[in-house]
Amino acid sequence: MTNMTRDFFIGLSNNRFLNNQAKKWGFSLGADKFVAGTSVESVLQEVKKLNELGISCTLDNLGEFVTDKTEALQARDKIISLLQSIHEEDADCHLSVKLTQLGLDIEKDFCIENMKAILQTASAYNIFVNIDMEDYSHYEQTLEVLRVLLQDYDNVGTVIQTYLYRAEDDLEALKDVRIRLVKGAYKESEEVAYPNKQAIDENFLKLAKQRLLGNAFTSIGTHDHHIINELKAFAEENNIDDAKYEFQMLYGFRNDLQNKLAQEGYNFCTYIPFGSDWFGYFMRRLAERPQNVNLVLKDKFYD
Ligand code: FDA
Repeated sequence: MTNMTRDFFIGLSNNRFLNNQAKKWGFSLGADKFVAGTSVESVLQEVKKLNELGISCTLDNLGEFVTDKTEALQARDKIISLLQSIHEEDADCHLSVKLTQLGLDIEKDFCIENMKAILQTASAYNIFVNIDMEDYSHYEQTLEVLRVLLQDYDNVGTVIQTYLYRAEDDLEALKDVRIRLVKGAYKESEEVAYPNKQAIDENFLKLAKQRLLGNAFTSIGTHDHHIINELKAFAEENNIDDAKYEFQMLYGFRNDLQNKLAQEGYNFCTYIPFGSDWFGYFMRRLAERPQNVNLVLKDKFYD
């Protein structure tokens, strides 16, 4: 994909007007390939199916860029009710949340209070909550919120993006915290992020290996089979305990590989987004990979 096309989709993903409009459209543009419905009932059915295949899940009740307190409180309450449903269904499933859905752009302390309410319920049910990492303008604040939450809760972690030069230092500071490692999905300036793919991939491998040799749990979030194969070999050579890591992929991507890894006995977790606020998430997926655009166009126009 050319940088121009990538920038085009990333630009769309950040467009607040389109993000708001899309909530009213219902699913369109082929988003249902990558987003598992709008209701809690339908997404939990999907979770159950995957659990039966030995795959655990992380649920993202989609939402970001919230600038209205009432909307942020509604998001918080939906997430708490989702935790209750996960508990009642006894699903093998944790949560992924975005802080801008919970009021980070309104007021940091308000966002922290919302997260505390979520973590209180989650810890009563023994459910882990991961804070997705958004663009760099929210990075420092996300880590600050995490540090405050870690003072009272141990069922919370976050995501570190290997396109950032500072990723290694941040991982060192978070060496006792559960982390998902990813390459990074946003358009960032060369001042903070590696501009070329090879450097990002090399940094991913280097940092993933450091994490595997460390003590805390790591989710390896990638669809890249080169990286997955190298890390599988590394884990075997170094007798890394299976309980220390899992592979994670997004719902709708490389289903064969997802099933294969689970069948081979690796801990595997599928990240499942659901809900009406699908636009930003979907545009970032189109930005990542030209084939995703082809897949969607094929379904829309050629079938
Ligand atoms: P990448 O797109 O770099 O592709 C590398 C190679 O892998 C390709 O050349 C191809 O060979 C193969 N490949 C990749 N996708 C394929 C496919 N669908 N079919 C066949 N082959 C394929 N980002 C972020 O900024 N914050 C976050 O919180 C998260 N969270 C998150 C959770 C999970 C579970 C995942 C998997 C990813 C994220 N991301 C994220 C997104 C992440 O940062 C990144 O943008 C995407 O995962 C794309 O990078 P990959 O490493 O998957 O492969």
